[in-house]
Amino acid sequence: MTSKNIVLVGFMGSGKSMISKLLGKRLGRKVISTDEVIIKKAGVPINQIFKDKGEAYFRQLEKDVVTEVSKESGCIIDCGGGVIINESNIESLKKAGVLFYLEASADFLYEQIKISGKRPLLDVDDPKAKIEELLKERLSFYLKADYTVASEGQSIERVSEEIASICEKLG
Ligand code: S3P
Repeated sequence: MTSKNIVLVGFMGSGKSMISKLLGKRLGRKVISTDEVIIKKAGVPINQIFKDKGEAYFRQLEKDVVTEVSKESGCIIDCGGGVIINESNIESLKKAGVLFYLEASADFLYEQIKISGKRPLLDVDDPKAKIEELLKERLSFYLKADYTVASEGQSIERVSEEIASICEKLG
């Protein structure tokens, strides 16, 4: 089993948070959510940060948090969906972690996001079109992860099993 961090990346609604929690329980590892750390530091919810200070400010906070959490080892790191748009974040995370991209289609993500609640970037007239646009823009970054795991059409238990089994084989 790898002693590195297990890092989950993927679009909003791809199941990162739930799968991180399951993996944390299953492997007895600490779970760190970059969004949660940002919220703690800022003292306000993510959509409030976007509203008051804008996306660029949020991305800077996110970068600082990624640098900080990349110093950990043996953790599960649940990354906000946009972490990978900054190449230096990918580099930092890869130094101490194995990256898993949770892959899903825009249709699936749209349905999941409707259930799990609004995100500031999708607070637009046509959220489905926005998901398609962002997913297209980000795909090449997500694919820089070490492994791609299909999240769509699989239970979160199955996805976490798949990730754990890959990690077991890694020295
Ligand atoms: C974002 C995803 C969100 C959160 C913020 C921006 C993005 O996290 O970090 O709203 O740019 O994709 P989740 O992927 O956990 O929803």
